[in-house]
Amino acid sequence: MNPTQVVNKEKILAVLYSAGKYAKEQPKLLGTLENKLGIKEWLESQGHEYVVTDDKEGPNSEFQKHIKDATCVITTPFHPAYLTKEVMNKAEKLKIAITAGVGSDHIDLNAANERKITVAEVTGSNVVAVAEHVIMTILNLVRNFVPAHEQIMKGEWNVAQVARNSYDLENKVVGTIGAGRIGYRLKPFDCKELLYFDYQSLPKEASDAVGVRRVEDLKDFLSQCDVVTINAPLHEGTYHLINDDTIKSMKPGAWLINTARGAICDAAAVKRAMASGHINGYGGDVWDTQPAPADHPLRSAINTMGGGNAMTAHISGTSLDSQERYANGVKEILDNYFNKKEQTPANLIVIDGQYASKAYADYINVNRVNDVTDEGK
Ligand code: NAI
Repeated sequence: MNPTQVVNKEKILAVLYSAGKYAKEQPKLLGTLENKLGIKEWLESQGHEYVVTDDKEGPNSEFQKHIKDATCVITTPFHPAYLTKEVMNKAEKLKIAITAGVGSDHIDLNAANERKITVAEVTGSNVVAVAEHVIMTILNLVRNFVPAHEQIMKGEWNVAQVARNSYDLENKVVGTIGAGRIGYRLKPFDCKELLYFDYQSLPKEASDAVGVRRVEDLKDFLSQCDVVTINAPLHEGTYHLINDDTIKSMKPGAWLINTARGAICDAAAVKRAMASGHINGYGGDVWDTQPAPADHPLRSAINTMGGGNAMTAHISGTSLDSQERYANGVKEILDNYFNKKEQTPANLIVIDGQYASKAYADYINVNRVNDVTDEGK
């Protein structure tokens, strides 16, 4: 830093997951406690204070201790530090909350609006990574891959045991709840039909290009799908959208994939539906509590044939390529903030006390300052 340069000293607090020895082994694990999004030197060379922690639970956590005088906070969906109204009330100096990744449901957006705290995320940073994970999980479940692989690792060989529940994706009906950026990459699989359920309709050119049909009623939509994939944000309108009642409308033997947010599905209801045979498989990487406790129902959920579970830890949007993109995106958002430059509209979730993103705002029917989320569809 030039010693004559005058800076507004900011305190930036980041809550990131710990990578332990893997952070050294793999320096591309940027979004971690150890590698600090790769922005430590950049921030400190400008005179700012940068605190990074993975300790996020409870009033005595490092997160809640440092939030009191932080001006910027960086959180991530992979290891969510909950920025509730109560926590925000302690954060008297907070001006901007940045999500390193996509999905800001761990932030009370209404409270951020009341306090005029800007909420921004790195929109699009992991679209491809999640979409690839969705397709991998669909194929995994439909082909019955996990039990087939486990058999091999155990030294066994039994084709019929796996083949009795292994199908082709070709000629199946696949539907997405939420037709946004992650939406569809299934065109090459010759599915019978691609459907979507979303309270916004896709522009005609977009739906024609992908070949999707909108179904406006959720139960009607569920009753037509062999495979349902969830790609919508978590908010009041999507919490436990998939529950005992809506599962009844799903086709018997359907597969359900959720890489959006765990709490969109009632985990106990999913486990029951798998045990009864109504759902043939459930897969994804998001959990209603993260890290998921060892006795979480979705760790042990299986179908009537002992398979059908394709769950992983929250990994889909944190591939090394995604980490590079969201680390760069966080740096850009901070740079704009420091230099009072306009933020990229698509990155804004709330600003100046108003919702900026259609994906959250239209559901609760409030005014938006921008109309940005059609971009990239
Ligand atoms: P997007 O904002 O482009 O699309 C979301 C779509 O969901 C929008 O078209 C919106 O209208 C629709 N939607 C909102 N509420 C709905 C409702 N009640 N019913 C039906 N549709 C509804 O978002 P994008 O980039 O496609 O991401 C979707 C979600 O995926 C994110 O909000 C996030 O929660 C999750 N995600 C998960 C990641 C992971 O690592 N597993 C990484 C990135 C995103």
